[in-house]
Amino acid sequence: MRNYRFPADYYNSIAHIYDEMYEDFYWTIAKQQIQETIEKHVSSFEDSKVIDIGGGTGYWSLWALKKGAKVVFVEPAQRMLEQAKERISKEIGMDLRDVPIEFINCPAEDLDFNLRLEENFDVVFLLGDVLSYVNNLGKTMKNISRATKKGALVFGTVDNYFSYLKDVIIYGSWEDYSYLVNHRKLPIGSEYGTFEARAFEPSEIEKMFEDYGFKIIDLTALASLPSVELSVKYGKYFIFEAEHLFFVAKRV
Ligand SMILES: C[S@@+](CC[C@H](N)C(=O)[O-])C[C@H]1O[C@@H](n2cnc3c(N)ncnc32)[C@H](O)[C@@H]1O
Repeated sequence: MRNYRFPADYYNSIAHIYDEMYEDFYWTIAKQQIQETIEKHVSSFEDSKVIDIGGGTGYWSLWALKKGAKVVFVEPAQRMLEQAKERISKEIGMDLRDVPIEFINCPAEDLDFNLRLEENFDVVFLLGDVLSYVNNLGKTMKNISRATKKGALVFGTVDNYFSYLKDVIIYGSWEDYSYLVNHRKLPIGSEYGTFEARAFEPSEIEKMFEDYGFKIIDLTALASLPSVELSVKYGKYFIFEAEHLFFVAKRV
């Protein structure tokens, strides 16, 4: 099995099957929980500017476009970006030149070279664990901070450190455990390859966003129970064990 140095290379290699991989029961609940939470915090997307960082095959960009947003889509994996273009033009039924979306092929860390960032955006998506995959967390957070208006909202998910910890204790070796504790990273992936991802403790997410001018206003577990209603209601009690954390941050 191939071990990818950059997560984006792994996603490039699975772009053609990515959507099928995320259609199972867990991800169906996860997507609905995310959608309900965004709708709770954002009353209208009309005229709002959304930046979808690590936008993948365009699921959330398409959703925001349908709600009336203007979207900037950022994705380093060229083939994921091509899938997103195809999906969006097909589902909206329009030539992409007539859709209010701009596609940028770059990692989150290089956004400042590719975009005029200053306080432009109302909403940021970091969905699908993008912060767990970036190479330079500080640079990424700086770019997000520069890109957002006061009051802007960031919706994101990350891998949960306590879930990684549970996995190495149950299935791993002493070396795996030491590696995780020292680097906060583990190899993850699928039968198509692996790459290293960074896991976060709930308190780390709070501290990191605070350091860059945000306040975490919602922090919960993603799809922690077998229904959307239960996951929304009780997710906050599972933040020390669920696979993924789901957060909402507000620019102060
Ligand atoms: C699990 S997918 C999520 C895609 C989409 N946001 C969604 O929720 O369906 C993670 C995405 O992050 C992208 N990614 C990896 N490294 C990145 C980086 N440094 N900056 C931005 N995106 C990155 C990958 O290429 C991939 O498309």
